[in-house]
Amino acid sequence: MNKVLVTGGTGYIGSHTVVELIKAGYETVIVDNLSNSELFIVDRIEQITGVRPKFYQIDLCEKEMVEELFKIESGINAVIHFAAFKAVGESVREPLKYFRNNNLSLINLLEVMDERGVKNIVFSSSATVYGQPEILPATEVTPLQKALSAYGSTKQMGEEMLEKVSAATEIKSIALRYFNPVGAHESALIGELPVGIPNNLMPFVTQTGIGKREVLTIFGNNYATSDGTCIRDYIHVVDLAKAHVKACERLLQAKTEENYEVYNLGTGKGTTVLEIVNAFERVTGQKLNYIIGERREGDVESLYAETKLANLKLGWKAELGLDDMLSSAWAWEVKLHEGTVNA
Ligand code: NAD
Ligand code: WQD
Repeated sequence: MNKVLVTGGTGYIGSHTVVELIKAGYETVIVDNLSNSELFIVDRIEQITGVRPKFYQIDLCEKEMVEELFKIESGINAVIHFAAFKAVGESVREPLKYFRNNNLSLINLLEVMDERGVKNIVFSSSATVYGQPEILPATEVTPLQKALSAYGSTKQMGEEMLEKVSAATEIKSIALRYFNPVGAHESALIGELPVGIPNNLMPFVTQTGIGKREVLTIFGNNYATSDGTCIRDYIHVVDLAKAHVKACERLLQAKTEENYEVYNLGTGKGTTVLEIVNAFERVTGQKLNYIIGERREGDVESLYAETKLANLKLGWKAELGLDDMLSSAWAWEVKLHEGTVNA
């Protein structure tokens, strides 16, 4: 049985990925410092899969702890590295917090992997590396643009680190560029746990729908799109999780053609903010209170993925549509509202 270390495994995307890894027959070990997640997620993973993943509460910035972890958990075949801070606005205000956490955790991991002969890593990158491409959809060879936030810089630097380290060591790496992950597991036992006022659209929509927020502000309706609102490529978190299993398989079965590979993970379909609002109302039967506001600084007008490479090389394709994304996000929000999530 292959053993996969999942950093950030109690987080939003990490927890869904641990579920899919267990379902696919992997042994999983989670490491997370719980800076943006909760321990009860481990119980929920066990409830869904019938298997309890091992859990270590460790900060990956503490190298001795990472060394200790790899000693105790010998025989790790691959690492999936989700652990990072991800609040774009905060990263603009506190760039060093992001450079320290996101870059140092990756450096420590790679050093210890190299020392201990662990040769495979999958890295969480982001479509934010593309900025606003001139030509859409964005392909993996679309030129990257200078990052507007420290968060974006850490993703570009993470990719570069992997490319260089994989050229010089035995470590093979795959960077996955996520477009806009949304939704929750169909059991509504795990999902996104935003802290405070959500920055992202989907949790803001569901929180407004349930009455936790008064009104959703749509950031601008004067863009050059069909209805004037921005276009994104929303992808169901369970589809995203499954792509990680495929990436692990590719590394472990030595199918990679390059030491470092990059894949877009999206549906390939662009959706406007107003289309999200309308679909939410249709799928949930809830009226959504919204107003049109100013454009948000730093927003790109339109971004969606070319997904052919992942289809071809990973043998992966997004299967779930917008209705599944909205209904599962809503079911999770209802549970959160009932207070049954951490019961
Ligand atoms: P999340 O915050 O839910 O999960 C990240 C987890 O990492 C959290 O549980 C947190 O406690 C943990 N963590 C952070 N720093 C750590 C450290 N130093 N040591 C140990 N654990 C640490 O975020 P997510 O949405 O699941 O995102 C996972 C990854 O995907 C991140 O790298 C993020 O940048 C990337 N990503 C997310 C999105 C998105 O919209 N959610 C989009 C593109 C890329
Ligand atoms: C989606 C659309 C907003 C909130 C961000 C990060 C990116 C990545 C994913 C990690 C946009 C609009 C939003 C609201 C709105 N994260 N919106 N009202 O901006 O594509 O990407 O999250 O890697 O790095 O930048 O996602 O969910 O914030 O916004 O109108 O209250 O919804 O303008 O068009 P975004 P988002």
